[in-house]
Amino acid sequence: MKKKDVANIIKDSLGIEHQKGDETIAESLVAQPKQFRLPTEELSKKNKRNHVDLYDGYIKSFNKVSAELDGASPEASNSNHSNFRSLKIDEVYNLNAVYLHELYFANISDLNSEITMDSLSFMRLERDFGSFDEWQMDFLGCAQASRCGWVVTGYNVFTQSYMNYVIDLHSLNVPIGVFPVIVMDVWQHAYYADYLRDVKAYTINMMRQLNWSVIERRFEKAEKISSALRENQ
Ligand SMILES: [Fe+2]
Repeated sequence: MKKKDVANIIKDSLGIEHQKGDETIAESLVAQPKQFRLPTEELSKKNKRNHVDLYDGYIKSFNKVSAELDGASPEASNSNHSNFRSLKIDEVYNLNAVYLHELYFANISDLNSEITMDSLSFMRLERDFGSFDEWQMDFLGCAQASRCGWVVTGYNVFTQSYMNYVIDLHSLNVPIGVFPVIVMDVWQHAYYADYLRDVKAYTINMMRQLNWSVIERRFEKAEKISSALRENQ
């Protein structure tokens, strides 16, 4: 894939308009916040508003880091301390924060949440976790295991199967080669205002309103990734 294509794919996914002649990803990326409908009553209005504000803040931080990286000198990089290193660490932290929040807001708050047994989502979760119930139990366990972070179900391109994993903050314990399909925010800011310390009750309520239509499209994408990899073996 050409560098130009990669740059445009990244920009598309961040809602950034690309201009004719864009051929490099060295220039700073400018991400735009997306709008999400969150009709759930399992979270208070105040909590939802605060969460969307936090998401906007991550976008602003990502844009700032991206712009500063344009002027940072890779030649002066150092593993003990350097501006370049600090910016590269903050780049991934904020980039993950933006994508994880977008994936989360898009896959929760479905008041008509329903999964059917003939859906790809259901069949793949049954195949790789033994049963849908076992996936749920494992996902809940991950929610309780995270030290302020995320629970994700994702497709691992190396094992060619779906796994649940725990992320601390936005960028600790992120496995390589995994495409996320179900994303749950378990930072305290996501639930404390409404559930105090009870992350389990919050996660159960959010899981009851998962948007399986959105999730099904992600499983379909993961399937395409899987078959493309098999074709190239
Ligand atoms: Fe969050």
